[in-house]
Amino acid sequence: MSDVFGVGVIGAGPVTQAIHLPTLARMPDRFRVTAIMDVDEPVAESVAGRVGARHSTSADDLIGDPGVDVVAVCSPHRFHAEQVEAACYAGKAAVLCEKPLALTVADAERVAQVSRETGVPVIVGAMHTFDPGWLGAKANWGDLQETVRVVNSSIVLPWNARYEDWATQILRRPPPGEPVADDALSRSVAVRDAVLGLAVHNLPHVRHFLPDVESVDWAESVDPYGYLVTIRGGGIIARLLGNMHGYWKPSWTLDAWAADQSLHVEFPPSYVQAGSSVATLTSDTQTRRFGGVEANGYEAEWLRVWELAAGIVPQGEDLQATVDDLIYAVRIADAAADLVRGEHARDRVR
Ligand SMILES: NC(=O)c1ccc[n+]([C@@H]2O[C@H](COP(=O)([O-])OP(=O)(O)OC[C@H]3O[C@@H](n4cnc5c(N)ncnc54)[C@H](O)[C@@H]3O)[C@@H](O)[C@H]2O)c1
Repeated sequence: MSDVFGVGVIGAGPVTQAIHLPTLARMPDRFRVTAIMDVDEPVAESVAGRVGARHSTSADDLIGDPGVDVVAVCSPHRFHAEQVEAACYAGKAAVLCEKPLALTVADAERVAQVSRETGVPVIVGAMHTFDPGWLGAKANWGDLQETVRVVNSSIVLPWNARYEDWATQILRRPPPGEPVADDALSRSVAVRDAVLGLAVHNLPHVRHFLPDVESVDWAESVDPYGYLVTIRGGGIIARLLGNMHGYWKPSWTLDAWAADQSLHVEFPPSYVQAGSSVATLTSDTQTRRFGGVEANGYEAEWLRVWELAAGIVPQGEDLQATVDDLIYAVRIADAAADLVRGEHARDRVR
């Protein structure tokens, strides 16, 4: 096998078209897209045509293709776990799965087990966990992790379509979802979905500072898509806010405060490939900035895939961290959903 890996992409929707194909096009010495699969054949054919790849409507067919060394799973959430497992059983060189890796703790643990058994490395496309600005701050923050008391994660974005249309001409976009109905069950499903769809990006960062969640104290679904959740553990409190609407200005931040130091990270929005985050560490004696470099998290995650596929780095702790991140997110999402259901039930009684 040469060190240019053939990539097969499962699911050719907006994220494949606007994020992964442009990223891979900038890495021709490492990757070549050889196959594109989508259940919607015209989409598969057209997207494959853009990159000179073959197309199919069968994930098994793509996974069985010897020209596919690395599988990228970019289908809707509910298919991720089974498609990642199938790629592992086929003995691929590596698998990149879009977030979230799975929708339940049991599925995440099973995927990890299959990855270990087959020796096929799996990474999750939570691009900000690979972001150079975040990693620069992490390598230099001293005792921040042990001393933080308050964390604020805020993701306030326009609809994805704004960025998708700037990046490429999107083929077939799914119809907009219905507004969330104002009943307890619908709103609890919506908050779980938003935590696993959006908060899941920042939760690996939050977990660094608040690893053991003792309680979810507040949870609500924020219209038209989003969440407001407060978690607590080990004397630390974290507020998680996420909302997508018609905002003109995106804002994606993470803050962590300790007695003598604070961290502020400004991440680029999804789809935007104009460089890394800027992370600022401030104490009473100095302000240090990290990131603000050309490389972004998407390139960094694909570089990691290449290193794993080439056997330059072993998967090691990455896999367990990935699974632990997902378990953390699922537990918060489940507790938030339970709380929303309970709160609404109480509202009705009052
Ligand atoms: N990392 C990021 O910045 C980022 C941003 C947005 C979304 N995402 C993630 O990327 C994934 C894809 O997002 P999207 O917006 O392109 O989703 P989407 O649902 O709009 O499109 C996914 C594509 O998968 C196809 N599909 C449906 N069922 C399939 C199946 N069983 N097998 C293969 N393909 C199937 C659909 O026809 C569609 O073309 C999601 O998991 C989402 O969470 C990541």
